[in-house]
Amino acid sequence: MSQQLIFTNDVALQLDYLITQGDKKPTFVIADTNTAALVLPSLTSECKSLSDARLITINAGDTNKTLDSLAQVWKELSDNGATRSSLIINIGGGMVTDLGAFAASTFKRGVRFINVPTTLLGAVDASVGGKTGINFNGLKNEIGVFREAESVIISSCFFGTLPLDELKSGYAEMLKHGFLTSATEVNSLIERNIAEIGSELMLQLLERSVKVKQDIVEIDPTEKGLRRALNLGHTAGHAFESNAMASGQPIPHGFAVAHGLIIALILSHMRLGFETSWLYKTAHWVETNYPKLHFTCDDYPTLLDYMAHDKKNKRPDQISFTLLSAPGEIHCGQIVGHNDITAALDIYRDLMHI
Ligand code: GLY
Repeated sequence: MSQQLIFTNDVALQLDYLITQGDKKPTFVIADTNTAALVLPSLTSECKSLSDARLITINAGDTNKTLDSLAQVWKELSDNGATRSSLIINIGGGMVTDLGAFAASTFKRGVRFINVPTTLLGAVDASVGGKTGINFNGLKNEIGVFREAESVIISSCFFGTLPLDELKSGYAEMLKHGFLTSATEVNSLIERNIAEIGSELMLQLLERSVKVKQDIVEIDPTEKGLRRALNLGHTAGHAFESNAMASGQPIPHGFAVAHGLIIALILSHMRLGFETSWLYKTAHWVETNYPKLHFTCDDYPTLLDYMAHDKKNKRPDQISFTLLSAPGEIHCGQIVGHNDITAALDIYRDLMHI
């Protein structure tokens, strides 16, 4: 059975309903230091059952998505009488929902949990689809399990105070979902000014976008085939993200995905005849909305190396991309050689004027 997705701008009401239905059970909230300070006070003031729950706070930031933070959560659950019939509510960005969901999935072999994403990136991607985990041994999401939340409450009411860059980061994943769906969806996203999307419209766009992921995950929950479609833009995107991180100028995940999407569309044209008009339109949109990347042909070997180490590759010597023959026409597992990737990087630099 797939997880229940609840789209609402009355989060307190929904939470109260989910916490109080059924038997009375010990309820725990997992939040990070940012969410605990910025989101929880107003939410708990509106939701009595949430204020009765025990709060577990972890340090904010992806660098804290670690075994130490996980052990802290397990310990607090254990010390405070969590049982298999407890309910855990993860409130925060992708770091909190990934780690909290993994803690819930493993504590006493699995406790029910609800995700309440508070960032656009979390709402459109991380909180939905059952990927849970922590970083380990210097590798992102190295340890984890697939286990879906019982419910995910998706709301745009938390985004009013998010920095614009955070919204742009999540919006790139929405555009990715648009490209996996249809020309109409791509146009409806690309034609908007991200800064001016109001809360109600954002909730409607989110509902359409998250459904794209949900439909794919229902068919392929453990990423054996179709779910790889969700990697569109990520093969090059992860390489850009790692390269930026290594050069001491990290960029938000979604910025890297926006640029990685351009590489995927260039390769889609080269390999599958994807129409160039989409490519030009998207490149222009990315150039207008996201900061430029800085790299030269001297960085190609490093970028290729990062792509070769993408954990979605079946073999390290074969770099695999999700490509499109048109918006909505998906081709997963396309193996692309170094020469074609190098050509795509050259075209990208021309298109993006770097
Ligand atoms: N973020 C891609 C996935 O959940 O499969």
